[in-house]
Amino acid sequence: MKALILSGGKGTRLRPLTYTGAKQLVPVANKPILWYGIESIVDAGITDIGIVISPETGEEIQEITGNGDHFGAKITYILQEHPLGLAHAVKVAQPFLGDSPFIMYLGDNLIQDSLKPFFSKFKEEHLDGLILLRQVSNPSAFGVAKIDKKGRVLKLVEKPKDPPSNLALVGVYFFSPAIHQAIGSIVPSDRGELEITDAIQELINTEKNVESLQLNGWWLDTGKKDDLLEANRIILDTDLEISKGGNIDEKSQVIGRVNIGEGSKIINSTVRGPVIIGQDCHIENCFIGPYTSVGDQVTLIDADIEHSVLLEGSQILEIHQRIVDSLIGRRAKLEMAHQRPKALQFMIGDDSQIELV
Ligand code: TTP
Repeated sequence: MKALILSGGKGTRLRPLTYTGAKQLVPVANKPILWYGIESIVDAGITDIGIVISPETGEEIQEITGNGDHFGAKITYILQEHPLGLAHAVKVAQPFLGDSPFIMYLGDNLIQDSLKPFFSKFKEEHLDGLILLRQVSNPSAFGVAKIDKKGRVLKLVEKPKDPPSNLALVGVYFFSPAIHQAIGSIVPSDRGELEITDAIQELINTEKNVESLQLNGWWLDTGKKDDLLEANRIILDTDLEISKGGNIDEKSQVIGRVNIGEGSKIINSTVRGPVIIGQDCHIENCFIGPYTSVGDQVTLIDADIEHSVLLEGSQILEIHQRIVDSLIGRRAKLEMAHQRPKALQFMIGDDSQIELV
């Protein structure tokens, strides 16, 4: 069994952050999204992992994620020259996959459930395809499955106007090598991509065994800002280890589940968890509220922030209004000289600077 993680693509929905970096490396609770998928795959006992990368962001992904030693896995990087669809990515990865069955995992997806029970069903029942489904309130925005009472998949439709169910396709799939032949017989969709839903439909049409299981836990597609903040909230709620490294002065209060990295200074501030603060940060006269992740080397002075993700090296200086629901890119700087606007809500790209004067 092998694994294929798709970590190329365009990332248009997370611009401007994705102009300068891979969306799969945007951190959730200070860890790249992609790493959660790798850990989950390794936890299911699969250690031969291929990662599909794009020419634009592939190098950065390789540099940060490495050869797999860190995860107890072997990682092979596979270059997809153009983002021509999920099924195209599988096609490009065929030399790596050979005739092995594999799990395909979208690198910007996060699921709470362990992969083990899904993997067991796939193996024990010798399936050609196992898809994971989740009930959603707005199925028209997703790939949607029609299934029978036993969970066999009858039909898949991409973003249907009139959805046949409220079961959306989650970005985790299990395939036998039969998928390669199916991909060989499909053509690009109207948006010019080789769609994995079409390939799975082809498996169904040729009477292969395609089944589904429903997720019990949460599923997040972090390709958009609000989903990313939601993923950050959930991971901080469920997975945060308390650790108070750094230097907290006697005027500061650190309440609840908080993780502070080495070399960070907390001066005259209140930190109310769940919050993670990276290494070598300077935090002075601040309130850092629940569900905030602060990357390494961030400077916050006279700032009041909650339910936000701040990337490495960003700075917030003397903004006297509460900042909420915000995603601040690497090295971005927010500084306010005068006045008090009523509300501030930001999505700022890497290296941006905003001054409210
Ligand atoms: P998507 O989020 O569907 O596509 P995208 O990355 O182009 O993003 P956007 O819609 O914001 O423009 O892709 C899901 C995952 O699969 C993501 O991790 C990127 C990856 N991917 C590839 O590796 N190759 C591809 O050809 C495509 C379309 C996606």
